[in-house]
Amino acid sequence: MNSVIDPSADLIWESVATIQTPGETEERRPHTTEEWTKVQDGATMVAESGNLLMMVPRAKDGDVWMKMAQGLTDAGMEARKAADAKDADALFNAGANIYYACSNCHVRYIDEIKNAYPNGPPDVTK
Ligand code: HEC
Repeated sequence: MNSVIDPSADLIWESVATIQTPGETEERRPHTTEEWTKVQDGATMVAESGNLLMMVPRAKDGDVWMKMAQGLTDAGMEARKAADAKDADALFNAGANIYYACSNCHVRYIDEIKNAYPNGPPDVTK
């Protein structure tokens, strides 16, 4: 999680942002080919991370876990498509879907988070 998934997702999350400071608004977007390539790489790694999570011994069950992991792969592919098209708005939306995919799994499989919701996991999506 810390060594592969988090850094790859950061490449996407940090690429599109609106940063407001007093008197100034920075619209951060990838511009150069190099910057877009970095985002493409991050998106591919996120998608592949979903595949890795589906493998033994990482997969915790054959049902909900697989759906959560597939959700991460789908969101990563969405980000890859957006990066291929150099579409910053689509990339921002894909970044949100990646975040939902992470959270949806964490609320179900990390006990400390899961136990904070005695009535069952919330739907983190949309
Ligand atoms: C299919 C389930 C699943 C998905 C999807 C998932 N995680 Fe996790 N994550 C876990 C579980 C389970 C743990 C706690 C156990 C562990 O560390 O292996 C965890 C722990 C973590 C940790 C704590 C550090 C660590 O290694 O224990 C970080 C950071 C993290 N995830 C980031 C992410 C990010 C960022 C995403 C999405 C880009 C993501 N995770 C997607 C299941 C998932």
